Amino acid sequence: MTISSDRLSYLIGFFKKETGLAMDESKAYLIRARLKPLVRKYGYDSLELMIDEIRKNKRGELAAEALDQMTTNETLFFRDAYPFEVLKKHLFPQLLENQRSFGKIKIWSAAASTGQEAYSIAMTASEEITQASSSVKVIGTDISKASIMYAKEAIYKQMEVQRGMPAQKLKQFFLQQDDNAWKVCDALRSMVHFQEANLIAPTLVTTLRHYAPFNIVFCRNVLIYFDVEQRKLVIDQIAQLTEIGGYLFTGAGELVEGKRSKWEAVRFENRPVWRLLAKH
Ligand SMILES: C[S@@+](CC[C@H](N)C(=O)[O-])C[C@H]1O[C@@H](n2cnc3c(N)ncnc32)[C@H](O)[C@@H]1O
Repeated sequence: MTISSDRLSYLIGFFKKETGLAMDESKAYLIRARLKPLVRKYGYDSLELMIDEIRKNKRGELAAEALDQMTTNETLFFRDAYPFEVLKKHLFPQLLENQRSFGKIKIWSAAASTGQEAYSIAMTASEEITQASSSVKVIGTDISKASIMYAKEAIYKQMEVQRGMPAQKLKQFFLQQDDNAWKVCDALRSMVHFQEANLIAPTLVTTLRHYAPFNIVFCRNVLIYFDVEQRKLVIDQIAQLTEIGGYLFTGAGELVEGKRSKWEAVRFENRPVWRLLAKH
């Protein structure tokens, strides 16, 4: 399946504008591989005809699915382990001390994918905080509609719960549906809310303002897909939604720098976590 250079540059521009995903022509093979299943699914005679349809109807279902296909949704429960140790040993104790003045503890999983990160946060909170279901709220957002639907459904395959999840937590927080399906228990689900949100949309702050200010934000393994300017925009938008003194976890090597926000790197468990110093 070939793609003419005109269509290829259209797609690259479209992905960049809509998701921030920075690609060049050398990624044509990746675009072909990711979009091929949709050609079959939607019954097009060629990939090029399908691209023409995406171009005609940028807000349609096919275009949304194409964007979904291009994002990398790889995730797992308790990914990298240390953020959850930091929550448990350092941040939750700190927040609990101030909780009377702060009210609910609000945590945002800002590229939540299929929900494993948000549920891992909720599990950690449930174990460390009495009555976590009424004192902690976790918001999971992602640009991918399919991922958010999956996260809301809260049913994970055997292979997914085996990756990173201690057996004791599986027993405590999941109900087995059948040989290959585990559902997150109601108590945990009631702590977590999922919704679609695009980190590079200028409307992000307005969309999520009613949940803010967040005490802690996870924005991991997504900043790498953005260019420098978009990264700064995302970091500034996160700052607008975070309380001063709030913390931000990024993926390994994802540096934090905003144009209008200032962050310092604080080390916990020998790893950097970002703390918001100022918003302007
Ligand atoms: C590799 S996953 C990381 C999931 C999780 N944070 C983790 O570290 O395991 C990256 C996620 O970022 C999402 N994403 C990509 N571009 C985005 C954007 N512009 N706004 C919001 N989410 C985006 C993708 O849909 C994907 O689910």
